[in-house]
Amino acid sequence: CGIIAYIGERKASEVLINGLKRLEYRGYDSAGIAINDKEEIEVKKGAGRLDELNEKLKFSEIGGRTGIAQTRWATHGEPNDVNAHPHMDCIGEIALVHNGIIENYLELKEELLKKGHVFKSETDTEVIAHLIEEELKSSQDFEEALRKALLKLKGSFALAIVYKNDTDHIYLVRNESPLVLGVGNGEMFAASDVPAFLAYTNKVIFLDDGEYAIISKDSFLVKDIKTGKLKRKEIQEITWTLEMAEKQGFPHFMLKEIYEQPNAVREAIYGNAETIARIAEEIANYEKIFIVAMGTSYHAALYAKYLFQRLAKRVPIVEEASEFRYEAEELIDDKTLVIAITQSGETADTLAAIKLAKKKGAKVLSIVNVVGSMATRLSDLVVYTFAGPEIGVAATKTYTTQLTVLAMLITALARHLRTADERYLTQLEEQLTQLPSFIEEVLEYDGELKKLAEELKDRKDFFYIGRGVSVPTALEGALKLKEISYIHAEGLSAGELKHGPLALIEEGVPVVAVAPNGKLLEKMISNIKEVNARKGFIISLGDSDELSKVSDVFLKMPKIDELLSPVVYVVPLQILAYHLAVLRGNDPDKPRNLAKSVTVE
Ligand code: G6P
Repeated sequence: CGIIAYIGERKASEVLINGLKRLEYRGYDSAGIAINDKEEIEVKKGAGRLDELNEKLKFSEIGGRTGIAQTRWATHGEPNDVNAHPHMDCIGEIALVHNGIIENYLELKEELLKKGHVFKSETDTEVIAHLIEEELKSSQDFEEALRKALLKLKGSFALAIVYKNDTDHIYLVRNESPLVLGVGNGEMFAASDVPAFLAYTNKVIFLDDGEYAIISKDSFLVKDIKTGKLKRKEIQEITWTLEMAEKQGFPHFMLKEIYEQPNAVREAIYGNAETIARIAEEIANYEKIFIVAMGTSYHAALYAKYLFQRLAKRVPIVEEASEFRYEAEELIDDKTLVIAITQSGETADTLAAIKLAKKKGAKVLSIVNVVGSMATRLSDLVVYTFAGPEIGVAATKTYTTQLTVLAMLITALARHLRTADERYLTQLEEQLTQLPSFIEEVLEYDGELKKLAEELKDRKDFFYIGRGVSVPTALEGALKLKEISYIHAEGLSAGELKHGPLALIEEGVPVVAVAPNGKLLEKMISNIKEVNARKGFIISLGDSDELSKVSDVFLKMPKIDELLSPVVYVVPLQILAYHLAVLRGNDPDKPRNLAKSVTVE
């Protein structure tokens, strides 16, 4: 989502709408605005694209000089008028907009319901307004109530808040979701991203996690949420153009999205923390399981197969949705579980597979990024990946978040079924929470991968090999390369190498070996030696000395359990493909002949 706040001498609604237009790439399923300098806070909001909404609701007709607004990318609660932001407390004194996910919102909501609060929406956000309202009852002032409420929130949140009895200030909060202040002349701004207000000022203050700010038209205070103490902040001048600012300084959306992965994976974990065990329970009794998907999502489906087998001792059938829809009719019934994985929730073949499954009485669980998409409406159960909008055509953060939620789901399932050692499951759950920092670590290979790409940019063929749970990573690495660099690439299980593809390996042919520590490492090393013997050029990803000795280029990966390694290991492969695409003069955001969402068969 994108949020923005304004306080100054201009007509706030106009500034806010201009800003929202610049934030639409962060989310565009609903929008809304709250203006606070009359007798009451005036709110207008609805579902739909910003332009249509503006026509219909006439946002810019609201007068007033203090306000907040949001353009939404739904997480909790489908995109509709009621779930659109801003959200308010019971008596309409507090209005707020939010970007992020409140991990413990169900728990908080339950407590507030008991205290008599009435909720209008299904969002996690509304809980915050009611929580502040509740804290106000026992606090001296609004700031104290806000801070007490913030201390109870778990998860990620960037917030802009207005309070009816204080029209001279806007309250802003940042924790694990971006928020930046804009300092003007007699006016102040705040937004998820600089482009929202860059037309008015280029003087900014980047808030850090765990900080809140109070702005008036000519002042700002930044404080620490935990201690309430003042923090010193520097004003910085931004030299980006608008276009650069939209990509947050990255040259392409794809690279920006690659770098967003630590945060996206964190949100995927937060967003499902309270619900995943229940969903696992609901699917626990199905023994006949199909997993269907297309493209990158299909590779996530293959990953799920390995986890199902190793942890839940179930053998699912994984099929491309385009095959399943024509082959499976006779095979599914009401004792079948069909898991559909789709970022967009709109892929024609995947939707057809879901419809077929429903027609035959199967239970359908979808793993989806876009809330409110068709797949979510057709399915019995939905797990969201919470990656935020992905603009680059080649999937990156939506893939790693798919893997993350699948790992959460199948670990929870194994716990429920008691099919794996409990200590081992606990260890996996702990490592899951470390995934964001592991991804941070491997992002540091960017420079090295760029140099490697310079060396390899004129090669004609690439091979990607892996074994076990790394086979999907090999396939995904090859797909990324094909999609955006237009270099021919093949991904395969390393065991298959000598049954054909080895005939194509000659001096200098790049072979990317995905080789985490695990039960198949030894086998992998002997496959690599087969390539060494043909003078192929080995680029390996792993964590063992032995591996480094047989490789031409070795990328040392963080210590992580083999079953979770795909979430981390795919990242350098995305970066390599990205640099090769750019060096060959291609636009990685818009590869030729491909579309983000394929809505025809
Ligand atoms: C298109 C996109 C791919 C994506 C595939 C499936 O081919 O270019 O990146 O993996 O569709 O999309 P879905 O939205 O169903 O995951």
